[in-house]
This record gives sequence, structure tokens and C-alpha cells, in this order.
Amino acid sequence: MPRVKTGHVARAACAVAVIALYFFYSNPWSSASPSKPGVWRGGGADVLDHVNMFIGTINGGHAFPGASLPYGMAKASADCIGEAHGGFASDGSDISGFSHMHDSGTGGTISLGNFPIFPQFCEDNDISKCKFAKNQRVVGRGSYDASPGYFDITLADGIRGEATVTSHTALYRFTFPKNVSTNGAPLHPVITLDLNDLANTRTGSAKASIDPKTGQIQGSGIFSPSFGTGKYEAFFCMDFKGVEMPSSSIWEGIGTLVNVTTKEFVGYSHGGTLSMFDPPRGNDHILTRVGLSLISSSQACQNAESEIPKFDFGKVRKAAENEWRKKFDVIKVVRGGIDKDLEAIFWSGFYRTMISPQDYTGENPLWNSTEPYFDSFYCIWDSFRSQHPFLTLVDPIEQSRMVRALLDIWKFEGKLPDCRMSLCQGFTQGGSNADVVLADAYIKKLGGGIDWDLAYRAVVSDAEDELERWDYAGRGSLHSWKRLNFVPIHDKDDQGAGLRTRTVSRTVEFAYNDFCIAAMAEGLDHKEDSSKYLSRAGNWRNLFKSDQNSSIDGVDTGFVGFLQPRNADLTWEEQDPARCSPLLKPDSCYLDGGGGETYEGACWLYTFFVPQDMAALVTLLGGPDEFTKRLNFLHESGLLYMGDEQAFLTVFLYHYSGRPGLSAKRAHAYIPKEFNNTINGIPGNDDSGAMGSFVTLTMMGVFPNPGQDVYFITPPFFQEISIVNSQTGKTATIRNINFDARYKNIYIQSALKDGNIWTKNWIDHSFFAEGGVLELTLGPEESKWGTRNEDLPPSMSTKARDAKDLI
Ligand SMILES: *[C@@H]1O[C@H](CO)[C@@H](O)[C@H](O)[C@H]1NC(C)=O
Ligand SMILES: *[C@@H]1O[C@H](CO)[C@@H](O)[C@H](O)[C@H]1NC(C)=O
Ligand SMILES: *[C@@H]1O[C@H](CO)[C@@H](O)[C@H](O)[C@H]1NC(C)=O
Ligand SMILES: *[C@@H]1O[C@H](CO)[C@@H](O)[C@H](O)[C@H]1NC(C)=O
Ligand SMILES: *[C@@H]1O[C@H](CO)[C@@H](O)[C@H](O)[C@H]1NC(C)=O
Repeated sequence: MPRVKTGHVARAACAVAVIALYFFYSNPWSSASPSKPGVWRGGGADVLDHVNMFIGTINGGHAFPGASLPYGMAKASADCIGEAHGGFASDGSDISGFSHMHDSGTGGTISLGNFPIFPQFCEDNDISKCKFAKNQRVVGRGSYDASPGYFDITLADGIRGEATVTSHTALYRFTFPKNVSTNGAPLHPVITLDLNDLANTRTGSAKASIDPKTGQIQGSGIFSPSFGTGKYEAFFCMDFKGVEMPSSSIWEGIGTLVNVTTKEFVGYSHGGTLSMFDPPRGNDHILTRVGLSLISSSQACQNAESEIPKFDFGKVRKAAENEWRKKFDVIKVVRGGIDKDLEAIFWSGFYRTMISPQDYTGENPLWNSTEPYFDSFYCIWDSFRSQHPFLTLVDPIEQSRMVRALLDIWKFEGKLPDCRMSLCQGFTQGGSNADVVLADAYIKKLGGGIDWDLAYRAVVSDAEDELERWDYAGRGSLHSWKRLNFVPIHDKDDQGAGLRTRTVSRTVEFAYNDFCIAAMAEGLDHKEDSSKYLSRAGNWRNLFKSDQNSSIDGVDTGFVGFLQPRNADLTWEEQDPARCSPLLKPDSCYLDGGGGETYEGACWLYTFFVPQDMAALVTLLGGPDEFTKRLNFLHESGLLYMGDEQAFLTVFLYHYSGRPGLSAKRAHAYIPKEFNNTINGIPGNDDSGAMGSFVTLTMMGVFPNPGQDVYFITPPFFQEISIVNSQTGKTATIRNINFDARYKNIYIQSALKDGNIWTKNWIDHSFFAEGGVLELTLGPEESKWGTRNEDLPPSMSTKARDAKDLI
């Protein structure tokens, strides 16, 4: 996630619940608005036409629908006053301005949105009647639209604002109507800037200065991150073009003009700038260029000047679109007549995986380094499961740079992040899941100059060294973890300080993290470490209470044996296995000290989290049939919430009980029912594209077990799909035979890999790195394909199997 309620650790409040109210009058899909409705056009020849930017922009999706380059720092959109985590939302709420940096899909408080600008007329050209602070300056929305690299809205007052971007610079094109004052004088367009952000977090000093000769405006402010600790300073540099130079001034308080060209605002005092233009003639646009930096205002100006020297809106937009086309170009599909909505779901999910992390290379004030610097790993708890594996497939070069950025953070801050935004550490939600990202890259032999010895030291430090304050990085309760081989409830031996809840989910995540470290140890020739961490990888068993039953609403489910919280003296405490599922107190397991021993999910769910040793879990839960029954119950009883990332893997766990067909069946049960081409088409926070990567990988038919060299094979939702590996240049093609667009034939009957019989229900990364063709023959019923023990993906306790042994 993070989904966060108020509390002592996370002060953040989540707006999810409020939003349903707005839905009725905000649905751009059904509104017949005048000029450009926010309607997905769909189906054109251009891949960009398949991206619906407004998927997940209501009901907690929080996806950012504005203009951005892949991984870009500049993200420009109009901001609304409703569910504004992604700046703009499809919630019908009023608009408070346009801002230039955002995060996408996040929980926590609203992130970024610094230095919003607001176009307006001031009544009778009277500056004292302009709107300055946020609570004064809302305006209704008219029609709007967006596509990769472009955002367009006409406000209810007739002012149109379009936005496009380069890496660190936003370019706006404002078109004002020709309005007149009460005595008939033409009104002068005004653009105000507010030294604030979306969540009003500005503290300390802020600055604004106006160059009277050039009209250039520079400034800065110090802000707080949205789901973490610390502060960051951001800088901007704004220039106008397309009209005569405006007359600009500085305002303070609730809109008093001060007769200076430079001003420092101390404490929380409000302020900003105001620029007044000549009345529009003809079809004048006011082009507004906002350069951004986290280093200095002058660097913000340099960024703007070097990236957008000519204010050529059309050219900048075209360049942005081409960047996106290049990214999408690695995947080619043969549609096979599938519904256009499904194509939109696929490409929009793909699109959202590249909004964040954000490439801030050259913009990191915290240390000097020649390594790349990425930010907005928001959060790795979400993204380790499928987003980073997806990027490894479609953009290995950038994924490699992200891994190097993680290692550089470790080098200079001492720990890998579990969550990071705005140059600050974010909250850790469970284990140290960057370990999984690193192991995943390692075993898939991700190239690009990653220092694996450094990487190994980083993951070992997660496993061994506890910080005094471990809420923001690393793991807590390590002392007990090493002594008892689980994280006990009410841990009295904890050496550091942190929120001591979530002992069950932390235990299973630590176990998996250690499995991943063992894999790296094995490859890097640290043999002793490898056995140590493999042994800790079995610690999930220590919280398995074999006689625990589960009743729901007083009715025994019949399933026995669940993870449960345990005391250091080995006695058990009870947490209803359904608690924190949608069926029982779903809100009681956040980072708010609600006390849950599982994070944002129930013991029911976490009992399935043994990605390293599913064979052992299947046996423990009573064998394949019993396991399948229990997994069906999880999916069909209402216990599972697909809007949180732990749900992803459970869709594919049938592969381990020899029923790969049921994984395919589940995939179709959730797409498009819960992941669809509507404004609420994401069941929870998109979490920087984590949900996007789930739909995309699921539709590709190669969902990963992250941290392992395993992709579960299910039939792609397309007739055929090809993926080019941009590091090796090789192409992997997956082709469905007997494909039908209505998805009656979703069960694999037989498979050929490069012409040879392939019975394993999984494949490894060499298929993508080295290229090849996987042909799946489909039918309407489950078959024997991929069901034998030797066909199942590897598990720690059974002999690890190598995909290449087969042929
Ligand atoms: C311009 O005039 C129209 C018509 O009176 C009005 O609806 C609109 O709000 C005005 N726009 C602004 C920015 O004042
Ligand atoms: C603003 O300050 C300048 C220079 O200090 C001064 O010449 C000018 O008269 C002032 N204008 C107003 C409106 O006070
Ligand atoms: C980085 O190097 C520059 C130039 O030498 C120096 O001014 C700056 O203080 C350094 N920054 C940090 C965080 O070390
Ligand atoms: C479930 O476990 C509780 C506590 O051990 C026990 O009292 C109860 O009888 C069990 N229910 C069933 C149906 O086995
Ligand atoms: C689309 O997905 C959302 C979120 O999961 C869900 O609530 C909604 O019912 C779905 N809509 C359709 C038409 O399937």
C-alpha cells in the first residue's frame, strides 16, 4: 500500500472512504461535455491511444493522470481539492491550481504538488480581488482529457490549461477567454504562484524573487514527505512567453502585495508571486515554463533552459509521446479480436509502472555520486512483488539503474529503503523487501554494472544489524528473530525502537527476505551464510499453529492450521485468522498502532505467504487437494482483498498444487471484474504502478515469483505476445493456439518451447534474456499439462529444479 489511518507512527490520513459520494456527478465516461471530454478514444493504430490515463483516479486508486515522461521528475497536472493524491482525480471536486511534481497511486498523506500556479482574472483588474491562498482559489472543472505526456483541462471559468513536460520541466499553455470588467475594460490575465504544496506541509523558510529585467521568477520552499520522516527543499524557476512580459509582484499573508523583488518567508507564513499580463488578443496563449530542481533555483533555471529553450509546446509534447512509444515498443501483441477495454487495461497498466520510481539523477542534494539516483520507491513493500520484475522484463536498463540507486542509498544512508519519497525515508511496513528486489535482479543476471558485493553487504546488513530506530529502514526485533527464530508478540528483547506490531507478517517476510539473501550468498560464494539464511528462511513454520481453526460469523470454515502470534516463551496468543480481512475489522492492521499482528491482511492470507517453500506449505495444509480447496475458499469467501499487493501471488499459487489451470481461471475472474477500463478500475491504491504491473504481467501470462527465477505460465490474454529484451536484443514470443477472444479456452492442454515439448508449468528468465517461442495449445477444460510433481515450480525443501533439465 500504504493504506494509513491516523495514529502515532503514521500521521497520514487516507481519503478512500470519502470519495464514493463524488462518483455520481464526476464520471467522465458518461458525461457529454462540450469540447474535449475525458473519454478514452481507444482502439487506434497508435499504442498511445490504448492508454486510458483516468483508470484508477477515483475510489482510492490515486493514479496520477497528468503529463510525465517515463520515470520523470516533472509531473504536471491540474490539482483538485478532493482525492488529490495523484494531483487530479475524477471525483468532480474543484480545481485549486496546476502543479509540477507528483507521486502516483500512493496512500499516506498527499505527496508533493509544490508551487502551484493559478490562472485567473481579478475582478475589475483589482489586484486586491485576486485569489491567492488555496482556500480562496478554487474553481469548478469543465471538460478534461489526458494522454501520455499531455494533460488538458478547461476550467468552469473558461480558462484552458494544457500541460506537457520534459524530465525536470513543466510547460503549460494557458488560453484565457476575452472577458471584460463591469465597466467594459478588457480583463488582464493573472497567474499567481503559491509557495506551498498539496498537503500544506511547508515549514521553515521559503523564498521568491523576481528578475525585473527578464520577468523570471525563482523560488524555493522546505516541505515534509508524505509517508516518512524528515524534510526536503524544492526549487523552481518560472518564465512566461507568448505575450508581453507581465508585471510581477510578491504577495504575502492572504494576498498583500509587498513592494520588493525578493522575499524570504519564515515559519509557516504564506506567500508567493503574482504576474499580470496584457489582455489577450487573437488566440494568444500564455506559455508558462516551470523548471524544477532539488539542488538550487539556478539549477531549476538551467534545467528549464536546456530542456525547453524555445517554449515550443507542440514539439515538447511530441517528444514526450515518442519517449512513451519507445518504452511500449518492446512489447508487440497480436490482439486476436479481444475487447478494446482489455487492451486499454493492459497498456494503461504498463504505462503506470513507469510513472515511478522517479529518476532524480543529478538532483540529489544529499550526497555526491556518479551513480544514478532514483526516488519515489513508494513503497518497495508494494513494488517488489511484480513492478520491479516487470521492469526487469520490459526495461532492464532502467531497472538496473534503479538497483544501483538503491545501493547508493545504502552506501550513503546505511540501509536500503523499504519506502522512500521526496529525498526522505518512508515507513517500513514489513520486512526488508529491497532484499527481494536485489535477489531478483541477481538471479536474473540483470546487467548494467551492478556491484554485487556491495549489494550483498547491503542485504546482510538488513538481516544482521538493527537500527536504533527501525521504523524507517531495516528490520526490528532482530535480536529475538535470531534467538527464537520468529518475531514474538510483545517483544521485550528488542534492541531498537519501532512499532512492535505485525509480528506475524514481519516473521513471514523476514523468512522470505532471508531466503533471497541465501540465494545471493549461494551465487556469490558465501557458502556458510547461504546455509544460515536458508535455515532462517524456514522460520515461517514457527508461527504455524497446527490446531488453529477459523470460524467466520460463527460458522466453522473447516480449515485447521493457521499462522498465529506467539510469545517469546513459545505460548500462543490468538488473532482471529479472519481479522484484517474484508470480513472482520479490515481497518485494524495499519501502521496506526491498531495492534494487528498482520499488516493490512489476515492470518488467513499470510498463511499462504511462503513463496520460498510452497511444496512444504502444500503438505502442511493437507496436500494438494486440501490446499486447492483452501485457496479456493480464500478467493471465493470474501476473505481476499485484491486492492492490496499481498493478494497478487495468491492468484497463481495453484501452480504449486498441480492445478495451473485454476490460476488462469482466477486471473480471468479478477480481470476485468476488479481491474478494468473505468475511472475506478483499480481495487486499491495503485501504489506507484504496483497494481498496473499486476494486470500487465497477468495478461502477459508470465507472472513472476519475485526473488526467484520463476514465472508461472498461464495463457496470455492476447493471441500472441512478444517481448524484446533491450539488454540482449532477443525476443521471447508466447503464442496461444486455439485462442478465443471470449476466453472459453483458457486451459493449457500442451506446450512447446522452441518446438520441444514443455511440461513444466513455469519458465525461467533465460527465456526472456535469450529469446524463444513458447506455444500453448488451449482448450476449454483443465488438462494434465503442468500437473505432475516434476512440472511444479521449485521449492526450497524439494530438490530445486532447473527448467533447462527438461528437454
Ligand atoms: C469570463 O466570463 C464568463 C461569462 O461571463 C464567465 O462565466 C467566466 O467565469 C469568466 N471567466 C473568468 C476567468 O473570470
Ligand atoms: C516600490 O519600491 C521602489 C523602490 O524602493 C520605490 O521607488 C517605489 O515607489 C515603490 N512603489 C510603491 C508603490 O510603493
Ligand atoms: C558535492 O560537491 C559539491 C562540489 O564540490 C559541494 O559543493 C557540495 O557540498 C557536495 N555535496 C555534498 C552533499 O557533499
Ligand atoms: C476451534 O478451536 C477452539 C479453541 O481451541 C475450540 O474451542 C473449538 O471447539 C474449535 N472448533 C472446532 C469446530 O473444532
Ligand atoms: C471495475 O473495478 C472496480 C475496482 O476493482 C470495481 O469496483 C468495479 O465493480 C469494476 N467495474 C466493472 C464494470 O467491472
